[in-house]
Amino acid sequence: MTNDYYNRKYAEGDFHYNPEYERTWLQNHLVDRFDMKPGDRVLDLGCGKGLHASLLADLGFRVFGVEKTVEGVKGAKQRGSAAEFIQASAADLATYFDESYFDLIFCRGMSWFHRELHVVCPVTGVNVSEKVPELFRFIKPGGLFVLQISTDFSGNHPERDTHNRRLSEFVRLFELHGEIVHKSNWNGVEVYSNEQAADVKGNLVIATRK
Ligand SMILES: C[S@@+](CC[C@H](N)C(=O)[O-])C[C@H]1O[C@@H](n2cnc3c(N)ncnc32)[C@H](O)[C@@H]1O
Repeated sequence: MTNDYYNRKYAEGDFHYNPEYERTWLQNHLVDRFDMKPGDRVLDLGCGKGLHASLLADLGFRVFGVEKTVEGVKGAKQRGSAAEFIQASAADLATYFDESYFDLIFCRGMSWFHRELHVVCPVTGVNVSEKVPELFRFIKPGGLFVLQISTDFSGNHPERDTHNRRLSEFVRLFELHGEIVHKSNWNGVEVYSNEQAADVKGNLVIATRK
């Protein structure tokens, strides 16, 4: 999806979220699961209109949201949370942050991870597998990269829509950069093979410790 698409979407509204549901999900599936500590530095990468970044700031973390679209950042700032929002591309983190700055990078549905992962994507122009090592530079040794991404694990990839990448494609993306410490669907059911994940479905949370 392009900047234009998200600028229009955010000018008119947002994804349909129940903030209380999202807060509980973050508490259970991020904060408690990964034993996050108050004051941990968190980057929400591709934060959209900043709901999750703001909820994490309310939970006591030092949160930065990076988002490419003007409308996304405008909406995020209007939430009035303690999270700091920056309009920038994930490709330009070095302009804003020192290396090893973050305890956690949380990446929730950022567009790069919705399409081709290991070759140049014709829509975004990005080879994600070449970008991931650059993102890991900004995580402390021992810190985490947590990707939350929609997929039914089938390998289906409609040309004009988000792709359903297989579990092994995400594993291949992260295994070179640390230890993969968690793989589950969004309900917390562990996923461990392409076949089992495609059976269980329910999207992916994959966490890698640097
Ligand atoms: C599916 S939305 C998810 C937004 C938000 N994380 C959420 O869960 O509601 C994908 C987001 O990634 C953003 N995005 C795409 N490419 C980006 C890039 N290179 N750098 C930063 N954000 C980007 C889009 O503008 C969009 O807001």
